[in-house]
Amino acid sequence: METFLIKGITGNSNIYIGESLQNVEEYLPKGKTIIITDENVKNHYLSDFPDCPVITISTGESIKTLATVESIYRQLINLDVDRQTFILAIGGGIVCDIAGFVASTFQRGLRFGFVSTSLLSQVDASVGGKNGVNFDSYKNMVGVFMQPEFVICDIKLLNTLPKEEVANGFAEIVKHALIEDYSMFEFIEKNKEKALNLDPEVIMQLVTDCIRIKSNVVQKDEKEAGERRRLNFGHTIGHAIEKISQPGHGNAVSIGMVAAAKFSCKKGYISKQEQMRITSLLEDLNLPVSHSIATKGIVDALSADKKRDGDFIYFVFIEKIGKSLIEKVSFTEIEDFLFSQA
Ligand SMILES: NC(=O)c1ccc[n+]([C@@H]2O[C@H](COP(=O)([O-])OP(=O)(O)OC[C@H]3O[C@@H](n4cnc5c(N)ncnc54)[C@H](O)[C@@H]3O)[C@@H](O)[C@H]2O)c1
Ligand SMILES: [Zn+2]
Repeated sequence: METFLIKGITGNSNIYIGESLQNVEEYLPKGKTIIITDENVKNHYLSDFPDCPVITISTGESIKTLATVESIYRQLINLDVDRQTFILAIGGGIVCDIAGFVASTFQRGLRFGFVSTSLLSQVDASVGGKNGVNFDSYKNMVGVFMQPEFVICDIKLLNTLPKEEVANGFAEIVKHALIEDYSMFEFIEKNKEKALNLDPEVIMQLVTDCIRIKSNVVQKDEKEAGERRRLNFGHTIGHAIEKISQPGHGNAVSIGMVAAAKFSCKKGYISKQEQMRITSLLEDLNLPVSHSIATKGIVDALSADKKRDGDFIYFVFIEKIGKSLIEKVSFTEIEDFLFSQA
């Protein structure tokens, strides 16, 4: 087992990689715990859940809404939840984002922890203390920064994950390598077959690398005033795509990273060969590298980006594989780049 500690403003978050869902009881405080999960995870793993009341939500990005949050609040009231109650989310990024938000806001905040069950949430979503939901067509528009007390990444659970969800997770894995760690990028290239087959040693290594990188960045800049923006590599254009079609978060990020790599090449930061190398690794990991969405649609979606700063966007480039660079870029420059690619 590998462990990491994030000392957050709102409390410490202990991350246990390679721990097992069956042991989660050891991490729960005495007293009442309520589990929040989704239908798929419950169908697969209910028998491994600790013996506590379970609130089950549906699946898919479209349920990551305030309406779902409200329905959970009502169930918590019916279950006589008080401020001593602990909330345990068992699920992927959607369950963790919603449950973390519910726990942080219900009765001004309950203690909570996660068992992270999808690859994407183990390498990214469940770590770092961002919790929230979408609002109208805006991704993650309403939320809070609040650290879960613990995050358990049980890699055995990934064996039941559908293939396309595994690919979704690989997008965020490649992202971490691209922004911070060249040797990790090489490791993925060398071990891509094993990774796709969920070889436990390779997956353990990749989850550990991602969490090492992410927890380091979050520790330096929990509330995303600077450094943490690096983690948004591929996400500016990725989120715009996610808003228009629903390809899955990782798929959108993959397309967004290819675009950001091309933009980095156009700016003279990386070579054409590096750009091609990134694209081919993503393809080999069964991720999409192109799309058929009209550029105008992407530009419109970008203009509503919540991370926009007036006429500027903090865009994450890579200077080389393994090194990122945040630059305030005018909206017009991004628009020109996108139309030049159309
Ligand atoms: N908070 C953050 O910092 C952060 C970072 C990255 C992504 N996110 C968010 O995470 C979300 C995506 O997360 P996700 O990809 O985990 O989506 P998800 O939670 O929808 O999980 C993907 C699918 O896999 C199923 N599933 C999960 N674990 C399973 C298992 N072990 N076996 C079988 N099926 C399983 C789920 O039911 C779901 O259908 C997005 O909403 C994204 O915005 C948040
Ligand atoms: Zn992401």
